[in-house]
Amino acid sequence: MEEIVRKNILNIAPYIAGKPIDEIKRQWGLKEIIKLASNENPLGPSPKAVEAIKKNLSKANRYPDSNAFYLKKKLSRYLNVKPGNIVLGNGSDELIDIIIKTFVEDDENIITADITFLEYEIISKVNDRRIITVPLRYFKYDLEAIKKKIDKNTKLIFISNPNNPTGTYVTKYEFEDFIRDLPNNVLLVMDEAYDTFIDVDDFPGGLNYVSNKNVIVLKTFSKAYGLAGLRMGYAIANSELTSYMEKVRQPFNVNFLAQVAAAAALDDKKFLLKTRETILRGKDYLYDALAQLGIAYVPSVANFILIDVGRDGVSVFKDMLKYGVIVRDMDQYGLKNFIRVTIGTEKENERFIKVLRKVL
Ligand SMILES: Cc1ncc(COP(=O)(O)O)c(C=O)c1O
Repeated sequence: MEEIVRKNILNIAPYIAGKPIDEIKRQWGLKEIIKLASNENPLGPSPKAVEAIKKNLSKANRYPDSNAFYLKKKLSRYLNVKPGNIVLGNGSDELIDIIIKTFVEDDENIITADITFLEYEIISKVNDRRIITVPLRYFKYDLEAIKKKIDKNTKLIFISNPNNPTGTYVTKYEFEDFIRDLPNNVLLVMDEAYDTFIDVDDFPGGLNYVSNKNVIVLKTFSKAYGLAGLRMGYAIANSELTSYMEKVRQPFNVNFLAQVAAAAALDDKKFLLKTRETILRGKDYLYDALAQLGIAYVPSVANFILIDVGRDGVSVFKDMLKYGVIVRDMDQYGLKNFIRVTIGTEKENERFIKVLRKVL
C-alpha cells in the first residue's frame, strides 16, 4: 500500500508525546502517578480560566469568533502591539505549520538545530520542505554555524529560545549579532514557549524585534498558563506577515472555550507569579539534589532539566514508570544517556529524586 501515500510521509518518524497518566495507570495498575514529561504546569490550569470556561460552556453551540476579537484585544494591550500583529493557533504547533505553508516554496529550505523541538523537522517534512539541522554547541544553538548554512534558498530559521529539550538560551548579544546581517528574505521564528520562566538578564525577548520584518515570535498558553489541553498559541509579527498567515489559517482553528480561557488567564497575575515561584524554587531543589547524587545536568532557564543519567535513558525512563513517575527519554533527540524532567510541585520533585536514586 506504500504507493498510496505521498513519498515524503514514508520517511517521517512520528512525534512521540509524553505518556498520558491514565495510560500508565492502566498499564501498571498504579494509583499514584506523577507526570513530569511534557513541560506542563504542575499547579493545574489558571483558576480564572476554569471559571471563564464554566461560565461560557452553554454557548458551545455557536462557532467561535473567527477573529477572536476579545482575546486579540486583550493580548494586544498586554503585549503592546496591534491586534493585526497577532495570529492565533491551535497551540503554537499549528502556527509552525501555518508559517511553513505560508512562506516556504518547494525549492526553499528551513534551518534549525539538530537537537531542538521535534515539530520543526516533522512539520517541515510533512510539508515536503527541506530542513537543514545544525549541531548544537555545548547544548546551545550555534548561531555562527547556522549563519554559515544560510544559502540563496533559505527561507526560514527556527530558534527555540529557550531550547527544548536542553533548557539553554540564545543571549541578547548573540541574537543581535545574528540578525544584524540576516538577509531580508530570510524569516526568523523565535519560539518562546518557555519565556515566563526566564531568570537571566540577557534574554533577547523576540517581541523587541518584531518591528523588524524578519522576525516572528511564537508564544503559548500551554506552559505557564496551564492550558495545554485547550490548545492556544499565538504568533506576533509585522502586520504584512500576519496578513499572509491569516490566509492560510483555518477560520475556526481556535475553539471558543480556549479563547475565553486564554483571555481570563492573561489577567491571572497571581497564578502566573505562583507558577514562576514554584518552578524557580523547584529548580534550585533539583539542582541541589542532583549534585548531591553526583548526577550531571544542563543548567536550564525553562521549566525542565536535561539530565545525564550515565546509562541508557530509555531504560531509566521505563524503570521510573514502574514507580509511577513519567519522565521523557531523549532517544528521539539522539541523546542516549539523557532524560528530561519537567519541574513539578515540591512533592513531585521529591518523589522524582527518590525514584531516580532508587532506579540508578
Ligand atoms: C519549544 C516549543 N515550542 C512549541 C511547543 C508547542 O506548544 P503548544 O502546546 O502551544 O503547541 C512546545 C511544546 O512542548 C515547545 O517545547
